[in-house]
Amino acid sequence: MRTSRLSVPRVIVAISGASGAIYGIKALQLLRELGTYETHLVISPAGARTILEETEFTLAQVESLADVRHSYRDIAAPIASGSFAVHGMLVAPCSARTLGSIANSLGENLLVRAADVCLKERRRLVLLLRETPLHLGHIELMANVTRYGAIVMPPVPAFYTHPETVSDIAAQTAARALDVLGIPTPSLKRWAAAAEDSARALLEADE
Ligand SMILES: Cc1cc2nc3c(=O)[nH]c(=O)nc-3n(C[C@H](O)[C@H](O)[C@H](O)COP(=O)(O)O)c2cc1C
Repeated sequence: MRTSRLSVPRVIVAISGASGAIYGIKALQLLRELGTYETHLVISPAGARTILEETEFTLAQVESLADVRHSYRDIAAPIASGSFAVHGMLVAPCSARTLGSIANSLGENLLVRAADVCLKERRRLVLLLRETPLHLGHIELMANVTRYGAIVMPPVPAFYTHPETVSDIAAQTAARALDVLGIPTPSLKRWAAAAEDSARALLEADE
């Protein structure tokens, strides 16, 4: 684990074992490009498995994208305490199991504990919940965690940006999730720009 830099804003990125490890990876890449935040990374054992199953990245390559990597089992890590100042936390992707643990403050591992700390400290917590279809238990967990202050953001692609590759879709979703977390990144494609283009085309067609 690298030593934390003083006076640099920090953000936590967690990768749990839902499909879509690429969302967490893209978020880490965007944060590295931005260079403003010290990134703290936690990966669940199932998250490590999905990185291997779904992506071209090794676990070591993903870990190297973060400034500080924490063991999932290290419940004494700095991010397990509210006195350690962080801007917020993104769980990308968030499994149904991790959603349930966060919604019930189980704190059984560092990922869930850090998320619970964000909620108790009233810091922003964004969960890219990836499960489908959903049963009522999932929906009730989402409702509960939303009551406690988390933002549930299923990684649903936006097609108005005209993505050409899976990588485009994952990058736009990761950028949007960071935006929701309060971290705007230059690569985020916003509807305002697309709307201006289509409005201009409509005006030209009217002339
Ligand atoms: C390739 C793969 C894809 C998975 N996709 C999902 C998923 O989309 N959503 C989900 O909730 N669980 C999914 N799972 C199951 C979780 O990994 C499993 O429930 C695990 O216990 C979650 O642990 P964690 O929340 O601690 O990461 C998937 C597992 C594998 C191996």
